[in-house]
Amino acid sequence: MASFPGAASDPLSIRRLYGRRQGPALKPNARRLVDEWLPRLAIPSEGPLSAVRLFGDERPLALEIGFGKGEHLAFQAARRPDWGFLGAEPYLNGVAGLLARIEAAGLANLRIHRGDALEVLERLAPGSLVAVYLLHPDPWPKARHAKRRFINPGPVKLLARAMAPGAELRIATDHPVFLRHTLAVMQHEPDFAWTAEGPEDWREVPADWPDTRFALKARRLGHDVWRLLYRRR
Ligand SMILES: C[S@@+](CC[C@H](N)C(=O)[O-])C[C@H]1O[C@@H](n2cnc3c(N)ncnc32)[C@H](O)[C@@H]1O
Repeated sequence: MASFPGAASDPLSIRRLYGRRQGPALKPNARRLVDEWLPRLAIPSEGPLSAVRLFGDERPLALEIGFGKGEHLAFQAARRPDWGFLGAEPYLNGVAGLLARIEAAGLANLRIHRGDALEVLERLAPGSLVAVYLLHPDPWPKARHAKRRFINPGPVKLLARAMAPGAELRIATDHPVFLRHTLAVMQHEPDFAWTAEGPEDWREVPADWPDTRFALKARRLGHDVWRLLYRRR
C-alpha cells in the first residue's frame, strides 16, 4: 500500500507504492493480453478523470482498489453493464488475469490503472464514484507500518472527495489488526457512516459481494472474514 512518510493524513505528500509490481514472467497468452488490451483499456496517466472522458457518457463509476486477479471486478462489471468500472492494481500478473476475464466475457465497461489507486482517486471528478471496493488490502500488521494501510485519514479524504453522497464503500479483511485499525480510523471520519446495526450485518454475505481469492484462502485456513459497509454521507 502507499505510505505517507511523516503524515498519514497528507495523501499528496511523497509516497511510495509498497508490494509487488511484477511476478513470474508472463506466459505467452498473458503477454498478448497485456500488449493488446492494456493500451486500449488503460486509464490516461495524466489529467482529470470523468465518466465522459473514460466512457464517453455520464454513467455512474465504481472503483476497485487492488483487484488482484480481477475476479470480483469482472463479476461486478458483468452485473452492471450500464456502469463504468475502474480497477487499480500494480501487479502486472494480476492485470493480465483481469484482461483474460474481460476478453472471455466481452466486457466493455472496464478501465484499468496499473498502479496506485491514489493516483486515480486524486484525479477523479468530485462525487463521481457510486461504489468503491477495497477487498483484502495488504494489512501491514506491524505497528511501524500502520501508515502504509490504505485506510488512513489521507486516503479516506480522497475517497470522500471522489464519492457521491450515498455511495457505498465496501471493505473486506481477514486480518484482525487491519479490522481494528479500520474501525478506529473510520469512526473519526465524519464523511462516512458505518451501516452495521448488529452482528448479523457483519456475517451476512450479500449475493452481489462474492468472496475474492484472498477471502476464499482465508476461509480455507479457518480465519474469519469481516465485511464492512460504509456509506458516503
Ligand atoms: C492481499 S491482495 C488482495 C487481492 C484481491 N483484492 C483479493 O481479495 O483477492 C492486495 C492487492 O492490493 C494491491 N495493492 C497494494 N497497494 C495498492 C495500491 N496502493 N493501489 C492499488 N492496489 C494496491 C496489491 O498489488 C495486491 O494485489
